[in-house]
Amino acid sequence: MTLRILTPGLGAVSTTLMAGVMLARRGLANPIGSVTEYGTIDGRPLKDELVSLDDITFGAWDPYKGSALDVAKRSSVLSAEHLAEISDELAAIEARPAVFDQSWVEALEDVDNLVAPGSWMDQAEALMADINAFRANGERLVMVWCASTEAYRPAGPAHMNLNDFERALKEGDPSIAPSQVYAYAALRSGVPYANGAPNVSVEIPALVELAEREGVPIAGKDFKTGQTLIKTMIAPGLRSRMLGIRGWFSTNILGNLDGLVLDHPDNFRSKEVTKLGVLDELLRPDELPDLYGNLDHAVRINYYPPRGDDKEGWDNIDLFGWLNYPMQLKIDFLCRDSILAAPVVLDLAKLLDLASTSGRGGVQEWLGFYFKSPMEDQDGHIEHALFEQEAQLYSAIRSMLGS
Ligand SMILES: NC(=O)c1ccc[n+]([C@@H]2O[C@H](COP(=O)([O-])OP(=O)(O)OC[C@H]3O[C@@H](n4cnc5c(N)ncnc54)[C@H](O)[C@@H]3O)[C@@H](O)[C@H]2O)c1
Repeated sequence: MTLRILTPGLGAVSTTLMAGVMLARRGLANPIGSVTEYGTIDGRPLKDELVSLDDITFGAWDPYKGSALDVAKRSSVLSAEHLAEISDELAAIEARPAVFDQSWVEALEDVDNLVAPGSWMDQAEALMADINAFRANGERLVMVWCASTEAYRPAGPAHMNLNDFERALKEGDPSIAPSQVYAYAALRSGVPYANGAPNVSVEIPALVELAEREGVPIAGKDFKTGQTLIKTMIAPGLRSRMLGIRGWFSTNILGNLDGLVLDHPDNFRSKEVTKLGVLDELLRPDELPDLYGNLDHAVRINYYPPRGDDKEGWDNIDLFGWLNYPMQLKIDFLCRDSILAAPVVLDLAKLLDLASTSGRGGVQEWLGFYFKSPMEDQDGHIEHALFEQEAQLYSAIRSMLGS
């Protein structure tokens, strides 16, 4: 059985995913960073239990016309040698017309590939028609939001239950974001949905209600790939040794299209919220006020074109030990944004497919391992510590595989 990974957004992350899957299945590169490709469960390779790379296909929407090959070249993530090996396969993937509204992503101008105008509901119907066409040969589908980060607008009255949300879709309510229209179309079509960006998408009560009603798995939000990945390794370690933290300053330089979009304050605010939430949940200052009760946490992202997709993330941690004597820890992560994100998208797609075929619907909190701002479980708890999340991930996989 083939699994088609559908991505709103044909950009750096999604094309790096596509190219990587194509190269790996030809034996031309290794899918490093993918837990589902390299992990084991009770000594058995996980990849033997899940959909194979040989059986993965793709589909994407984007407000700009073009093929995955055009975008991959423009994104400058992969080498010309790598792209040459798979150029025919990438060229065959063309962006489908998108549901888009510039008021949500101001940096994107002169778009040329949109669905026909109409209410949000009309546009959702256009996406559902695409989804049906994508599944024409009986493929299973999953959708992972890999499109630009939308402006920060918290959920409002139209988002609180499905009835009101559907009425608002028909009325073209401006408080509805395009990403919510994609999530709605996916869930109505029985397609699992994950939100890779920090904006509010499937996390609204109306869409959680729909996912539960339809028994479709959902997960989010904001891929945990670089600085926050490291933060959720280091902070639990410092806490476990009862070392205090007075301040944590995180800054980044980034020069890709994502960096340009995040340069706008409304879009950066979405990212800031997911990046800032992490430390409070991890350190629980209310339980240890002497250690974490007076912590300053700041996060910055600076758009700096010379670096392209090669992000640099610095962390300065002001910590203190025995008798409050101060110390400092500096981290400089010279990373590659899309190289870190591509395996996360692959894992999420394969694991959401597993959840779906195992009959699990609604919020999949065990996928929190992959997100900066995991969705709450039923008790309202959010786990951020990476190794706790890893244990939850494996426990859920084990129970679904019946081992
Ligand atoms: N790379 C990482 O490490 C990482 C980590 C966490 C989150 N993310 C998020 O993943 C997303 C993708 O990142 P990227 O580097 O590929 O960005 P990108 O800018 O290269 O690609 C995003 C694409 O989405 C398209 N788009 C915008 N609005 C759309 C809509 N309504 N429908 C369909 N397509 C739309 C844009 O035209 C663009 O081609 C961003 O939101 C980013 O913040 C990335």
